[in-house]
Amino acid sequence: MPRILIIDDDPVILKVIADILKSNGNEVVAAPNGESGIKKLERNYFDLVLTDLVMPDVGGMEVLNYIVNKATKTQCIILTGYGTIKSSVDAIKNGAFDYITKPITSDELLIVVEKALEFKNLKEENIRLKKELRQKYRYNNLIGTSKAIQDIYDLIEKVADTDSTILISGASGTGKELITRAIHYNSSRSDKPLVVINCGAIPEALLESELFGHEKGAFTGAYKSRIGRFEMANGGTIFLDEVGEMSPALQVKLLRVLQDQTFERVGGTKTIHVDVRIISATNKNLTIAINKGNFREDLYYRLNIIPIKVPPLKQRRSDIPLLVDFFMKKFQKGKRKRITEFSHHAMDAMLDYDWHGNVRELENVIKRLIVLCDNQVVDFDDLPEHIQQIGRSIQPVEEDFFEEGLTLDSAVKDYEKRLILEALDKSNWVKTKAAKLLHINRTTLVEKIKKQKLTEIASA
Ligand SMILES: Nc1ncnc2c1ncn2[C@@H]1O[C@H](COP(=O)(O)OP(=O)(O)OP(=O)(O)O)[C@@H](O)[C@H]1O
Ligand SMILES: [Mg+2]
Repeated sequence: MPRILIIDDDPVILKVIADILKSNGNEVVAAPNGESGIKKLERNYFDLVLTDLVMPDVGGMEVLNYIVNKATKTQCIILTGYGTIKSSVDAIKNGAFDYITKPITSDELLIVVEKALEFKNLKEENIRLKKELRQKYRYNNLIGTSKAIQDIYDLIEKVADTDSTILISGASGTGKELITRAIHYNSSRSDKPLVVINCGAIPEALLESELFGHEKGAFTGAYKSRIGRFEMANGGTIFLDEVGEMSPALQVKLLRVLQDQTFERVGGTKTIHVDVRIISATNKNLTIAINKGNFREDLYYRLNIIPIKVPPLKQRRSDIPLLVDFFMKKFQKGKRKRITEFSHHAMDAMLDYDWHGNVRELENVIKRLIVLCDNQVVDFDDLPEHIQQIGRSIQPVEEDFFEEGLTLDSAVKDYEKRLILEALDKSNWVKTKAAKLLHINRTTLVEKIKKQKLTEIASA
């Protein structure tokens, strides 16, 4: 139930308002003057205060002042007579939510009160969400214990709360955007926007106005003037993804923003100043682009003040089990768990696979398994075919290989036997087909089957 305090030196108004608000489901407290109103505010929490503007001794402005400075979660509505509308407008400038002029109608009162309470809830929700977002992007969602990821953690820690320009390079899906978020939400800019723009995904002709905005009439179709991403990001951070895709003309404009944080909108003459931290990312080698003359060297040095290099997943395989576990938990949170772990065989294949799509690919594999896998323990056969393929080809070294002192010869023979069996299995023991799979001719296969003493029963 919302708690509302009414302050007015007119006892009739006090009672009328209190009755209306009470019958509408609010808890109401009344105070006959500004002084006792502030006392009540000191002792109790209120969601909303309605205060008369003109009262002897302590007036509505003083009450408002107290609220704005000391009871910051409380909203305030000013009650005012005709003569004092100007002061009411001043009150809004000073932080009041709205004002109501006397004589007050019940409808008007209820509408304004409801709006004020709704505004208060939205504001609190907004604060809560922002906090949650900051929490989410602290570091605990950037998973990895490999040296490479630990080094990146350390670097983030060092540079987050500075304004230095950062260039993140790494293949697709390695976590460049995630790192950007971690940096932004751990900086003092975290209350301000993080604006993301993918320079490679926007046609060149549109990118300039997207980044810098445009004035009305700047080009056909520019009916209204519009601010660009740099202005949107003012006070915060801009993330220029695939920065290597920028045209030479735009590179010049970006260079200027890096030098003095100024630019003009497309078709505009007014110089606009912004305070924006720039983080850019690239999945191609910019030095090659520089050598080819496609990327300005001076811009590269300006962007690359702090370089962060994210290695591909296959160069930090020790992170794979952690990531598997993380995504398994993440995507099944609050649901009945379908999968809980991976068998050794399955995990080995996951570790051996090359993950060209990096963490994003791994994430998608887990998402898919959660939907499709019927077993709690994911086994080798549950994995997508292309991962199984790799698993098979690097599989044969058994744990007891060295203990038993197998010779290379017998190991190779053993491996050959498996491959042949697999091929025969796949082709239902039709030898011509199996030979084709193994890229040998049928006669050789038949000989090998004989040598290995393979029979169809042996495959079962
Ligand atoms: N270390 C990590 N821990 C947890 N999740 C990660 C990690 N790295 C990447 N991810 C996840 O993988 C996915 C891809 O990451 P992200 O979008 O940051 O990659 P990217 O490098 O920006 O890729 P692209 O170049 O394709 O844009 C995201 O869902 C992200 O949350
Ligand atoms: Mg990205």
